[in-house]
Amino acid sequence: MVEEDLGLERVNCRAKGASSGFKVAILGAAGGIGQPLAMLMKMNPLVSLLHLYDVVNAHGVTADISHMDTSAVVRGFLGQQQLEDALIGMDLVIIPAGVPRKPGMTRDDLFNINAGIVRTLCEAIAKCCPKAIVNIISNPVNSTVPIAAEVFKKAGVFDPKRVLGVTMLDVVRANTFVAEIMGLDPREVDVPVVGGHAGVTILPLLSQVKPSCSFTQKEIDYLTDRIQNGGTEVVEAKAGAGSATLSMAYAAVKFADACLRALRGDAAVVHCAYVASEVTELPFFASKVRLGRNGVEEIYPLGPLNEYERAGLEKAKKELAGSIQKGVSFVKK
Ligand code: NAD
Ligand code: LMR
Repeated sequence: MVEEDLGLERVNCRAKGASSGFKVAILGAAGGIGQPLAMLMKMNPLVSLLHLYDVVNAHGVTADISHMDTSAVVRGFLGQQQLEDALIGMDLVIIPAGVPRKPGMTRDDLFNINAGIVRTLCEAIAKCCPKAIVNIISNPVNSTVPIAAEVFKKAGVFDPKRVLGVTMLDVVRANTFVAEIMGLDPREVDVPVVGGHAGVTILPLLSQVKPSCSFTQKEIDYLTDRIQNGGTEVVEAKAGAGSATLSMAYAAVKFADACLRALRGDAAVVHCAYVASEVTELPFFASKVRLGRNGVEEIYPLGPLNEYERAGLEKAKKELAGSIQKGVSFVKK
């Protein structure tokens, strides 16, 4: 029996008329991050329509997730020829498409493959849903966000408020590791993590942890190193089978949900993200931002840093400058 015989066009009507929620696309939805991310977004009551796009297995993942008895309607889109259909009308686009690291690699080693993937996807976003909020997960985030910005500039649709690099996993890890050594509930801990998303560019501001904590120098060295190398810890533990996927899907959903609540008009939605910024002399930087109906409504200054953090900031900026330039040149060349 086919869908039409059963009158399932009603489902299509529900998808088309889905005015009470947001329309979200995941690009790279069949991957290690994409699948649990799609599952968790299907559970989010703010989502009315969920588009799952990938170059492989998009329909399998869609069939599977569409059986969950939650309200979001799910549609699958496979391959470049369906990319534009996947994007038309979207409010939020989340991009976890691209290759992950293997042991011994840096995130920058992914540039050659992932830069082209992000460029192609952003060209289609510029054409089909230029007003969407874009959450970029694909690494190296320090370069892929500048790539996205350049693509949007080229297309004449760049809005710095709407392009956000997802650094939430660094915050999630920092909250967890601080809670572990201080004997706190991680849900009550808030560690600002600024800079970028690779090695020394990941700068936890342990002097600004809430609730206020005082750490020994040994604890600061341990925590800083563990937070900066949390991704590598997972890559090595997975021993060639990829990088963080489940904790990343959790972090991506936490961030996407914040973006949707802000789009709905909720007040005081504040998280760290890597965005076009004037907080430092660099054109992109991760820091706390307030999200609103238009994306990033306000970017907060870094606040008072101690000597250790000031030294970390200088190191972070040096590496970030090169990664940003590499992304910009990739699109301009
Ligand atoms: P994966 O290989 O398991 O999945 C990637 C998916 O992208 C695959 O399904 C693949 O088919 C798809 N894909 C490839 N080319 C595509 C294209 N042109 N269009 C659409 N989809 C395409 O990898 P993963 O573990 O899900 O990781 C994805 C990316 O996320 C990697 O670059 C990884 O480094 C990054 N990552 C970022 C963070 C972060 O904190 N920002 C955390 C973890 C991983
Ligand atoms: C992470 O922080 O887990 C991701 O950036 C993936 C990686 O390569 O470490």
